[in-house]
Parts: sequence; C-alpha cells; structure tokens
Amino acid sequence: MNTSTPAPAPLAAATLDAAVAALRAGKPVGMPTETVYGLAADARNPEAVARIFALKGRPLDHPVIVHLPAGAALHDYASEVPAFAEALAKTFWPGPLTLILRRQPWVSDAITGGQDTVGLRMPAHPVAQQLLVAFGGGLAAPSANRFGHISPTTATHVRDEFGSDLPIVLDGGPCAIGIESTIVDCSGARPRLLRPGMLSVDAIERVVGQLDGDTQLAPRASGMLEKHYAPRAPLRLVSRAELERAELERGDREHGELARTPHARVIALGSMPAGCSGVVLPDDPDRYARGLYEALRALDHGGDAPILLESPPRTPSWLAIHDRLGRAAAGSGEH
Ligand code: TXA
Ligand code: MG
Repeated sequence: MNTSTPAPAPLAAATLDAAVAALRAGKPVGMPTETVYGLAADARNPEAVARIFALKGRPLDHPVIVHLPAGAALHDYASEVPAFAEALAKTFWPGPLTLILRRQPWVSDAITGGQDTVGLRMPAHPVAQQLLVAFGGGLAAPSANRFGHISPTTATHVRDEFGSDLPIVLDGGPCAIGIESTIVDCSGARPRLLRPGMLSVDAIERVVGQLDGDTQLAPRASGMLEKHYAPRAPLRLVSRAELERAELERGDREHGELARTPHARVIALGSMPAGCSGVVLPDDPDRYARGLYEALRALDHGGDAPILLESPPRTPSWLAIHDRLGRAAAGSGEH
C-alpha cells in the first residue's frame, strides 16, 4: 500500500472551531479520511447519528463505524478486546483498518444497528485527526454518499452528493487510498475478513496468522452482493478482448470506458468518438484504487450509456478492487 500524495494542509483555527461547534450541536460534518470521505456525527449522541442516516437515506439497521482520536482506548467502546485485536490496532492504527469488537453497553443501537458489536477505526488522515482531537471523542461516520451511490474521494464529491443539506465539508484534498477500509471482525474466537481493502490480507496475516472468511478471489453470484458503490449507468466488467470487440460493435454509439492501458481506438483515432468517454487508470493497484471512484463518477452521466470496464488481474493485490467493481456492476443492474 502506497499512500504517497501531497500532505493535506491543516485546517485553519476558525474552520476547525466551526466544525467542532456543529458536531457539539448534533449536526453532521463532511470529514476527509485517507480511504474515502465520511459523514461525521457525535458518536455519543444518538440523535446526531440518526441525522446522518436520514441524510444518507440509509436503513437504520446498518451499523456505522466509530472513528477514534489518536490515543483513544479501545475499551471506551469495546467490552472485550482479544489479543489479536490489540495486535492489529497496535500495528495498523492510525490507518485504513476497521475492527469489529463486542460493544460496551452504552454504545447506542443507532451506531450498532442493534447488534452487540461495534466497528472502530483510527483514521490516519491529519485533518480527520485534527477534528477528532479538537472534538475530543469518537465520531460515527459512514462514507459521505447517498445510500447505494459511489463513495466520495474529494470534498467536491461530498458537496455534489449533499449540496446545501450539508453546510460544513472539510477539505482534506483527494483521499490517498481511495476505497474503503479493510474490515476485520474480531468479535469471535478467530479474526475474520468482512470487507477487503487496500491494507492487504497478507499484511494482516503476518500479524495474526490465517484469517477466516473469504480471503480468496472466489467468484460471487451478483444476487449475493449488496447493492452498493453503484454508478447510475449500467456497468459491465469485460476482458481486454471483449472491451475491444464491444467497442467495435458499439461504433460511435454513446458509451464510457474504463481501461487499464490505452485501448486501440484511442491510439488509432487519438480520441474517443463524440459522445463516448474513456478513462485510463494506472495498471498498479494502489494508484488504480486512488482513481477508481473519481473515474466512475466522471463516466457516469446518469443516462443509459453503458460503462465498459476492463477487468483487472485476479491476483491478491487486486482483491479489494475486484470486490468494489463486483458490487458496482451488481448494483448497476448489468454484470
Ligand atoms: O474507510 C471506511 O471504512 C469509510 C471511512 C469514512 O472511514 N467508512 C465506511 O463506512 O466505509 P460505511 O458506513 O460506508 O461502511 C461501513 C461498513 C458497512 O458495510 C457496515 O456494515 C460495516 O462497516 N460495519 C460497521 N459496524 C459493523 C458491525 N458492528 N458489525 C459488522 N459490520 C459493521
Ligand atoms: Mg459506504
């Protein structure tokens, strides 16, 4: 995992004060993290947490991750912390890893979705930490997108999602990682992978040994996938050969393309035909992840024009990207 992007500027005192005052008043704030932007609210105020659910249009039984200031104790929120969870937090926090732990009784159902566990993460983004430390407590934050839509990776994306419904969006620049955190369930006897992320299974297994859960690239039926991370346009995952064939078949009819290397048509014509748009993302998982959601937003014009997406290799370093692409394709109504 390579997180080398320019260091985001710290918040000005007045901006930070306004954000903290809003949070204390129970209002949501758009917050950058190193993975994706979050929609933050005071984790100790169930009404504030309910407001983020209402703003997102998210069902109430979906649990939300609590973001912690550096130095916070896991036991503030978790009733049981197995040694493997301690080891993961010690090794990877602050960073793009969420741990699911048995909750303290005081943690509200608004956060846990009524479950007896809570998701905890200490983000590494300096602006997130500036906010968390100034606020002085945990912030519940789902990704800052309307339910089922693509996660935001810039402050502009967040403003595009919520407009005047969300007056405070802190700008921490583009997210260095670009897809959501790796989630490991630590509430059972053994750690279990719930959601792959750019913090790899390999890195985690070096600390805690073999993970339970689907850590391979097992193909999943689209009906099994949550409708999530979806652009509005139909999205089709295709091989390189299929991409080039589909391109010929579609001719100049409108479509979008997300390729890993410049395709024949761009090379031959110097540009895409009118009405068609193409994005080429780097053939490197870290840089691909960083650009993925921005590219999907750029290609998603809301119409029926399909997005053809060149499928990345099925190797472990692309696991999290495949997970998100599979969900996006499933959610878009085409596969
Ligand atoms: O990178 C991230 O994780 C971003 C940034 C903002 O931190 N957050 C994020 O939140 O992706 P959200 O709400 O979009 O997704 C959180 C995921 C959901 O799939 C939810 O089901 C799972 O975390 N989750 C949260 N608490 C859980 C719990 N107690 N048990 C099982 N899953 C949980
Ligand atoms: Mg989300």
